[in-house]
Amino acid sequence: MMTVGIEKMRFATSNLYLDMTDLAHARGEDPNKYLLGIGQTEQAVVPPSQDAVTLAANAAEQLLTKQERAEIAEIIVATESGVDHSKSVAIYVQRLLELNRYARAIELKQACYSGTFGLMQARDYVSLHPDKKVLVIATDIARYGLNTSGEVTQGAGAVAMLVSANPQIAVINDDSQFMTADIMDFWRPVDHDKALVDGKYSANVYRDFFKEVWQRYQDTTGLTLTDFDAMVFHLPFTKMGLKALRDVLPETDEAHAASLLAAFEASRVYSKRVGNLYTGSLYLSLLSLLANDTQLRGGQRIGMFSYGSGAEGEFFSLTLAPTFKAGLDVLGMEKLLDQRQQLSVPAYEELFEGALWGSADQKAQSKQDPAHFVLTGVQNQQRQYRRQT
Ligand code: HMG
Repeated sequence: MMTVGIEKMRFATSNLYLDMTDLAHARGEDPNKYLLGIGQTEQAVVPPSQDAVTLAANAAEQLLTKQERAEIAEIIVATESGVDHSKSVAIYVQRLLELNRYARAIELKQACYSGTFGLMQARDYVSLHPDKKVLVIATDIARYGLNTSGEVTQGAGAVAMLVSANPQIAVINDDSQFMTADIMDFWRPVDHDKALVDGKYSANVYRDFFKEVWQRYQDTTGLTLTDFDAMVFHLPFTKMGLKALRDVLPETDEAHAASLLAAFEASRVYSKRVGNLYTGSLYLSLLSLLANDTQLRGGQRIGMFSYGSGAEGEFFSLTLAPTFKAGLDVLGMEKLLDQRQQLSVPAYEELFEGALWGSADQKAQSKQDPAHFVLTGVQNQQRQYRRQT
């Protein structure tokens, strides 16, 4: 029987990071609030040479063979950090990666949720056209502002996924439950470069949405928590997923609860080090689980909870393929994180406020960025990208 799902996954982030202990000291907070209470140890900081386009292209660059570039039928980019009100990030990615000319390209938006919509659209398309492949990229830069309570939950990066028939990582099961309600928990008006948020309310809505779609999922499928070997969450900060998981752990026995908690720890290793990726966060948690959980085996069922403020939630499951490790680049991901350069708080603050954006210094800054693709500046209101290697 033909199945459809995730064939390969890769991740990209910036080459700079901020230590959360340093940030806590600078903000007069107890470091344990950030490290344990929020669950973040490091945060990606974005230089002016990176944006949603370059992060997306850098993630997908590592993913695709020459043949796959020619075969891709759809390029779906999910983001809430788009660079243009009209032109999609997907078209820039198509050119930078020299992808199939005879492909569809589109950008999707619904806060952190749209990566999941992209994945479902890809699954549906490949189900109808099993000889085709779809590239889905979730790319974002999470910004709340200096000295805000959301600051510790910023982050950046992109996750690229190739969706195909008979996938080597996991089958996307046709069992989604989803819900939508007009809620003002987090939003970013078109003239704002930082998000507005009702932080505590947003965390409560997240938990409520999870409980409601999880209940509907159980009612429709007849599956319960015992049928799951891992539960993966959108991680705006890693304690958020832990809270949601703890809400449902009483539904299973102690031994299984302990194994779900161990799987959760594996799923938050990378997010702790880069922060919120918005659209990509759920998929970075999945990558982290697949790379760091030594108990995972083919055939196991993984629960996926996607949440996007505003608000929309979806729960669905994946069935792991025995070959899942072949679709990842675990060493590459660790190298990417370990080789980043640490910034002081003042250096982060200068970059955050965009002292270098659009200035003559930007070209110089892009030369220091080791990424394949960089933004070198803006000329005549047109963004200039360069492939460096
Ligand atoms: P806050 O007010 O600074 O923090 O805001 P707090 O006072 O609530 O403390 C946080 C936790 O640290 C608490 O734990 C404290 O007890 C603990 P909890 O009770 O929640 O379990 N704590 C300590 N722990 C150990 N040692 C200590 C210590 N001190 C305190 N010394 C908040 C936190 C998350 C609200 C803020 O950072 C924020 O607004 N973040 C942004 C919003 C957000 O991430 N919301 C998540 C749900 S919405 C979502 O997921 C969608 C989103 O990704 C956007 C999209 O969809 O596009 C955001």
